[in-house]
Amino acid sequence: MRSNVTKLFRNWETYAVMRDHVVPALWSLPDPVLNVWSAGCSSGEEPYSLAALFHHHAERLGVAAVAERRVQVLGSDIDARSLDAAARGTFEESDFSETPPELRRRYFASAAPWPIVPEVRRMVRFERRDLLAEPAPPGQHHLICCRNVLIYFDRETQERLFQKFRDALAPTGFLVLGKVETLLGAARTRFAAVDGRERIFRPQ
Ligand SMILES: C[S@@+](CC[C@H](N)C(=O)[O-])C[C@H]1O[C@@H](n2cnc3c(N)ncnc32)[C@H](O)[C@@H]1O
Repeated sequence: MRSNVTKLFRNWETYAVMRDHVVPALWSLPDPVLNVWSAGCSSGEEPYSLAALFHHHAERLGVAAVAERRVQVLGSDIDARSLDAAARGTFEESDFSETPPELRRRYFASAAPWPIVPEVRRMVRFERRDLLAEPAPPGQHHLICCRNVLIYFDRETQERLFQKFRDALAPTGFLVLGKVETLLGAARTRFAAVDGRERIFRPQ
């Protein structure tokens, strides 16, 4: 049993915008490494989905091996049991209900427990982190995805987290909040909306 609800490619519409706009924009940067952070990743479905999205983009360009070296996805969560499940990289049938068939065929084995393919597994690492207690991971992040996590926190705490994400993002980076949460307070002047519906923002 999974302890915190999540899914592969949860809210596919958000991933579709990332596939069409965010991933190509980041891929075209000159930066040798692209740092992606799934903050509050639960059992790993979100970071694996993000890694697969970048891999798929590179594969269509004929440079899949470059994605494996260039894209580094961090999944962090406060919950150790979820992270143990995440590290296994295996899934249940219900995890796939929003996964496009093409991506399921390409990135997951065809039999239970449907492990993620090794080339995408290698792009993802996991760390136990309390979003509230710790500073943002060092370095410049190109994509921070924090979805269905902020609902746990009061308004003041959310505003502190937005500032933390702003500090952790590269100027060319993106913050993805998804369908449920949105920016509050001063953060609204520190980010510009790229896609208002999927709540995708850039620093400004
Ligand atoms: C509903 S899951 C969201 C998973 C994924 N982001 C998604 O949208 O499918 C929320 C996660 O936030 C994590 N979380 C809650 N408080 C946290 C904190 N202070 N620091 C890090 N993670 C936290 C929970 O452990 C849980 O795994």
